[in-house]
Amino acid sequence: MIILGIESSCDDTSVSLVKADKNGFEILAEKTASQIDIHKKYGGVVPEIAGRMHAEKILPLIETVMRESPSIKTQGKPDVICVTSGPGLITGLMVGVEAAKALSYLWNVPLVGVNHIEGHIHSVEISNFKFQISKQLPITNYQLPKIKYPALALIASGGHTELILIKNQGQYKKIGATLDDAAGECFDKVAKLLEFEYPGGPKISKYAENGNPSAIQFPRPMLNSKDFNFSFSGLKTSALYWLRDNVKSQTNTYNLKPNHLSDFCASFEQAIIDVLVGKTIKAVEKFKPKTVILGGGVAANKKLRESLQNSLTTLNCELRTPNLKYCMDNATMIAVAGYYKAKNKKITKWNKLVADPNWEVS
Ligand code: KG4
Ligand code: ZN
Repeated sequence: MIILGIESSCDDTSVSLVKADKNGFEILAEKTASQIDIHKKYGGVVPEIAGRMHAEKILPLIETVMRESPSIKTQGKPDVICVTSGPGLITGLMVGVEAAKALSYLWNVPLVGVNHIEGHIHSVEISNFKFQISKQLPITNYQLPKIKYPALALIASGGHTELILIKNQGQYKKIGATLDDAAGECFDKVAKLLEFEYPGGPKISKYAENGNPSAIQFPRPMLNSKDFNFSFSGLKTSALYWLRDNVKSQTNTYNLKPNHLSDFCASFEQAIIDVLVGKTIKAVEKFKPKTVILGGGVAANKKLRESLQNSLTTLNCELRTPNLKYCMDNATMIAVAGYYKAKNKKITKWNKLVADPNWEVS
């Protein structure tokens, strides 16, 4: 089955052609146009600009990906089109969904609406096929082990922080989510105080590498609450208050000396990691999953991956993380998640698919 995946829910326009067969998923061609360079001027994603940029890029990207893939040249069209139809920015979602609907109608190809979070969950099934070819591994090596269920997913990105229980493939139950800011959003907002460009999460984690995580005692919001929810806005405020009280500044940004900056970043990062890992482990102890899936942009954080791995060693539970490239938004994860839906005949007629910015995974 050849799947055309389309993703446009935030600030990446991404298109991918994926072949699913008994060996797993093979990426035939993929292209992503990031809008970061434009949004960073504004310190975050501007929905109207995002929509316009997606509209500019979507058809050229589809055209390029179709042209680059030899298998599609013989076949002429994919077997199914899978598109992110929620959650996300409505201005972006509409562009991807309308493009997918038009192609589904024109080619008479089935259409699948994919939940963006479900895409992040399936990102752990994508191996970097091209990377493996360059290392001259046999082709069968692109098959990654299947996810063992029941599983628990922690999806942490700029727009989401959710804990999802997965009883079996496609059976989701959200057990917790952030009540305010997402973990990535908290990284980005505090990074902005430090005059780091958007998205600042990677830069905070880079500085944190040389810092002392115990230098500043930031709060661990809701770490001991009885539920599986998160809250990060209080942590962001404490970071702001600490800067205001300890660093002289005439503006709303703070310039720390390098070693203080590293200590600040390490302490702040540690607070977020403690909460994410603490809540996930609490859920593992209660629900006893066989696998923990860590996905979303924040899953690129090396220390978070290591801390979760260390905490899981005694719990008889396997950690699955995406290849770094697939932590970020991409169409390949949407194609993979959509493949399972197509296999289970969860197809939508082209004129019935609607973009839903608040679609909860269920
Ligand atoms: O999944 P993603 O590409 O887009 C959304 O759906 O939001 O995630 C982007 C987010 C940003 O907030 C970015 O700062 C964060 O992921 N991020 C990181 C790291 N790399 C990306 N946060 C912490 N540490 C990192 N290494
Ligand atoms: Zn995402």
